[in-house]
Amino acid sequence: MAPGEPIECLAAIAWEAKKPLDVTKVIVAPPGPGEVRIKIIATALCHTDAYTLDGLDPEGLFPCILGHEAAGVVESVGEGVTSVKPGDHVIPCYQAYCGDCKFCKHPESNLCISVRAFTGKGVMKADGKPRFTTLDGKPIFHFMGTSTFSEYTVVHEQSVALVDKTAPLDKVCLLGCGVATGWGAVFNTAKVQPGTSVAVFGLGAVGLAVIEAAARAGASRIIAVDINADKFPAAKEWGATECINPKDHDKPIQAVINELTEWGCDYTFECIGNVAVMRAALECAHRGWGQSVVVGVAAAGQEISTRPFQLVTGRQWKGTAFGGYKSRVQVPQLVDEYLAGGTLLDKYITHRLPFTQINEAFDLLHSGKTLRTVLTF
Ligand code: APR
Ligand code: ZN
Ligand code: ZN
Repeated sequence: MAPGEPIECLAAIAWEAKKPLDVTKVIVAPPGPGEVRIKIIATALCHTDAYTLDGLDPEGLFPCILGHEAAGVVESVGEGVTSVKPGDHVIPCYQAYCGDCKFCKHPESNLCISVRAFTGKGVMKADGKPRFTTLDGKPIFHFMGTSTFSEYTVVHEQSVALVDKTAPLDKVCLLGCGVATGWGAVFNTAKVQPGTSVAVFGLGAVGLAVIEAAARAGASRIIAVDINADKFPAAKEWGATECINPKDHDKPIQAVINELTEWGCDYTFECIGNVAVMRAALECAHRGWGQSVVVGVAAAGQEISTRPFQLVTGRQWKGTAFGGYKSRVQVPQLVDEYLAGGTLLDKYITHRLPFTQINEAFDLLHSGKTLRTVLTF
């Protein structure tokens, strides 16, 4: 097709909550000023896609095109775009980076606000409209500023990480969300030190990524916690030194861990999205200095609680979004580390399917038997 033309391509439309996705043709408009049109090569599924599709996100907009863990090739760029060009290999980042806002300039934050107001509404900043339409012209909302469940998508330039051309896109797509989040929670949020103790709650891809990073950071004791013992062999393989199933104990899990470690762990990570487990994780962080990091995303409206005494006696409660990585700057570095052989990225991919089988991939996600399913076009 000629540059600057609309593209007709395959996408998965979420028409409404709790309905299977409709794999069908859509029209993707050319990129507007400051925008990039990307040909998606591979996309994985993450719980946030399922959460929105299940209608649990009160801000979820329908119809929309979900998807936020992907990699692809730049097809064309809109007016004023200078950081990428057609043919570049990229990872779309739901956590944007402009380099210029208060959050980008702060060394401890990645919560860029440059396009957030628009990505939250499912539209593009230039004109407040989406770039997707049905064949008969109905608008379809974007999702998380990425909408990767489409052969082509349009994103803001602030949401595009330029990566090494030799990286396999059907693997590094995982760096768009879950695995990078787990690694970053360890390196950026907790800053895990060598010789320390760590407890990880929830052993899906995110929890395993925390274990992997904690092992790389030199933690000497890594306690893996899950109510599904089938998750333990992988946890050990990824670097856990011991595994605990809360169901095997009469006492609350925090009491079990506090007893095992005397005063708790130097760092604990909640990778489930369960507020009761968040409390347990805080309460088995070490008295005096233990840090507990909330990584899992709890359902809308949920609240966390603990006795203030837990904080008075030195425990710290923290949280992280996209592992604190400044996306456009650091995702390319994560790709380079992968290419240098330092990370376990390939092992998180337990299933591969063609894009047209995306609904089966959602069934797999709900089955609890997958780490990540990668779909290719
Ligand atoms: N105690 C311990 N483990 C639990 C509990 C519990 N109460 N409830 C669930 N789990 C375990 C599950 O058995 C599963 O192994 O937590 C794990 C969660 O893994 P996945 O469902 O595969 O989730 P993952 O992709 O790793 O994401 C985890 O991070 O990105 C967020 O939204 C995502 O909140 C989710 C979390
Ligand atoms: Zn995600
Ligand atoms: Zn910014």
